[in-house]
Parts: sequence; structure tokens; C-alpha cells
Amino acid sequence: MDIATPVSKVITELKSLLGDRLATSNSVREHHSHDTSRLAPHLPDAVAFPRTEEEVAAIVSACAAHGVPVVPFGAGSSMEGHTIPIRGGITLDTREMNRIVEIRPEDLLAVVQPGVTRKQLNVELRETGLMFSVDPGADASIGGMASTRGSGTTSVRYGTMRENVLALRVVTPDGTAIQTGSRARKSSTGYDLTHLFVGSEGTLGVITELTVRLHPIPEAVSVAFCPFPTVAQAVEAVIACVQYGIPVARVEFLDEVAIASVNNYSKLDMPVAPTLLFEFHGTSAWVEEQAKLAEDICTAHDAISYRWTADTDERNKLWQARHDLFWATKAIIPGYDLYTGDICVPISRLAESITAARADIDASSLKGQIIGHVGDGNFHTAYLIDPNNPVHLKEAEEMADRLVERALKVGGTASGEHGIGMAKLKFMRKEHGKAVDVMEKIKAALDPKGIMNPGKMGSEWSA
Ligand code: LAC
Ligand code: ZN
Repeated sequence: MDIATPVSKVITELKSLLGDRLATSNSVREHHSHDTSRLAPHLPDAVAFPRTEEEVAAIVSACAAHGVPVVPFGAGSSMEGHTIPIRGGITLDTREMNRIVEIRPEDLLAVVQPGVTRKQLNVELRETGLMFSVDPGADASIGGMASTRGSGTTSVRYGTMRENVLALRVVTPDGTAIQTGSRARKSSTGYDLTHLFVGSEGTLGVITELTVRLHPIPEAVSVAFCPFPTVAQAVEAVIACVQYGIPVARVEFLDEVAIASVNNYSKLDMPVAPTLLFEFHGTSAWVEEQAKLAEDICTAHDAISYRWTADTDERNKLWQARHDLFWATKAIIPGYDLYTGDICVPISRLAESITAARADIDASSLKGQIIGHVGDGNFHTAYLIDPNNPVHLKEAEEMADRLVERALKVGGTASGEHGIGMAKLKFMRKEHGKAVDVMEKIKAALDPKGIMNPGKMGSEWSA
């Protein structure tokens, strides 16, 4: 009797195509069952490690023929459950598609396979004097960053993945490979499919190649750090810097709880107060001038102190500490989990939004902190919860919901950079209204069998 199920048929087919690069062991499946969120894991039936676009097309075609889910997977650093294969099926891990195809310094662009990580590309670029600017903290894969429309600390100056992806190659859900966009800096031909796939979180196809923008590595870099008596004064100072037109390369906000955790984890001794960390790029004279202009503005907003330096070691230490913040916060109460929030608001509404988020934490029974890429109006909350305490979870959930409700009320968005995944699906209708119906039509047209990352964007949000 033939008891082959659709997924077992796909596994048999892919095994003959990929050999060892089709894994069904528990450890590999377990590794692909979760992301960095605290959402419940789910095992894929198998994990495929293609090396070429042709192999991706064959995997997707096999899944399409048998109606089996296929979930693209990069470095696994997503934060809202994007890559959890909640309906099982095949997880398509792009880590062996890690070739830098071409670097064209004269056109300020690079062509990469999706599994290339941002650090890998920047190491390769060193000789050229160019850099790939988007920096979400984790050493994410560039394909994954495009899929979530990721950003991070440098976007205030160099843009998010939206601004930095020029063109894509994509295998669509019926197994066809297409090219979107071109190497030209601009174009007015056709629907902008590149930016349809950027941010689509693996629900419309598999990205197999990206053409990304590069930027000159600045001749000089300076950093400044500046504590303030209150959150509002710190944020007002950022708004003034941005409105004045200082081209800050980074401006990060850390509230006093975040500063205390950084001090403790990274062995620093910054004053425990709401603080701005700035970075300026340019010539040596220009970074000095920017640092001093920002100093004037911060002083006018009653900064407690202001210190700037062009010393590379000090700068690296500061940014490493900022990037380690996730772990620093987790370390505040051993055994606790972080429940994170991520919203973005128009910059004029940022001070009131952060102040309200802080007041909400202070009125709760939980410990929490606020950090932000404040030059963009984007900030994160992190609530510390005991994973075994349902009261904590409920309180954090309600606080995260209120955070989003307030952001939407002032013209903001439910996610600045972490994306929708599963955690933010419930806000799609509220944020986008009838536009959600258009998104669902796009999903249904491109993926009529619903095989691409099912249960996520495009199929579930009107529920
Ligand atoms: C950060 C990531 C978590 O800002 O978005 O650290
Ligand atoms: Zn962030």
C-alpha cells in the first residue's frame, strides 16, 4: 500500500536532487523551528540547502506540485516569528548561497546571493573603500534583511533596505525565476516589483540574488555621547539636530535602565541617565564641526554633559556595547525573557510617544527599558518577563498593544524595522484598512496555492 504523503513525496524528490543538502535530522529541524522571538517553535519536515537559483526553482516547483509549504530562512535572526514553519513543510535555508557575485565600485553596487551576511560583504569590500551601510545589529543575511525590510542604527543617514536594494532575482511560487529592477540608479518603467518583494517576508517568493547599493567609507568618524536630565529633553534635542539638518550617521537613544544594563554587561561607566549616542561621518574638519553643532543643540536642551571623540577603539567599544544591549537586558534578571516592542512615529510625535511608553512601564509591575533609532522616529521597548508567569505575559502583551495603538493614533506604524512575522499580524487591518484587501489579492495572484511561508502575511491578517 502506498502511504506516501505530499510532504514525503517532496522529500523523496528533493533527496535525489540535493543529497545531503536535504536534512531531516532532528537537530537541523530544531534549529529551523524558531527565531529570536519567544513565539512557540514548530518543526519543518525537512530543511533544504540549495546552492543555485536552479535548485531553488526545483525546490519551489516540487513544493508547488504537491501543495507543500516552503519557508525561506536566512540567518535566523528575525524577531517576530517570520521563519517559524507553523504548517511544517520544507524550510529553504539560503546559507550555502553565500557567494558575492560581483562588486562594481564604479557603480557603487554589489551583487550578492541571499545568504551573504552583511559583515561578510563588508569584509570583502574593505579594499574598495566602500561599505554596505544597513546595520540591524545581528549579522543577518542580506536576503533576510531585504525580506523584512530591515534597517537599524545607520538608516537615519543611509536609508533602510528599501533604499539600498536596487534589483532582485526572485523565484516566484510557481517556480519561475524573474529579475526585478536594474543596475540603473533610477527608473520609471513598470510596477515596482523590487519593492513589492522587499518586506514581503518570504510570502511571495524566494529571493535568489540582490543588487545592493554601496556607500563610500567616510574619511573620518566621530562619536559623541550625551546624557540628559529627562527623556523629553533628550528626544527634543534629537528632533532639533535633525530639523537643523546635521547629517547624523547614527543617533541612538538609551533610557536610564538601558544605560544601567549596558554599564553592567559591557563594563562601562556611563552616567545613568537618558542618553544620546551620536556618530558623524565626513572629513576630519566636518565631523568635528558636526560634533560641535550637535553639542550646541544638546547644551541648549540642558544636557548634563557632552563628550565627543574620534578615537576608533572608544567608538568600537561604544557601538559593541549598543549592539550587545539585547543580551545586556536579558542579563538584568537571569532566566527572564525579553518581550520586545518596535514602533515608528513621525519625529514630531516622538517625545510624547517615548514618554508615554516609559510611563506605561513605570505603572506596570514589570521592569522594562526603551531604546531607539530616534533620528528615524523608531524606538523599541523591552519588557522583562518570567516565561513561566502568565500574569507577566499578559501584562507585557497589553503594554505592547497599547504601544502600537498610540503609534497608529499619531500617524505611525506597528513596526519600524522588526516586521510583521506572526506577532504583528493582528495590527495589519488597523494600520492599513482596505489596503489589506489589495495585499491579499496580490498574495492570492502570485501564490494561489498558498505555499509560500503560509500562515503569515497575506493570508491571515484579516482574521
Ligand atoms: C536593536 C534591534 C533589536 O535595535 O532592532 O537592537
Ligand atoms: Zn532596532
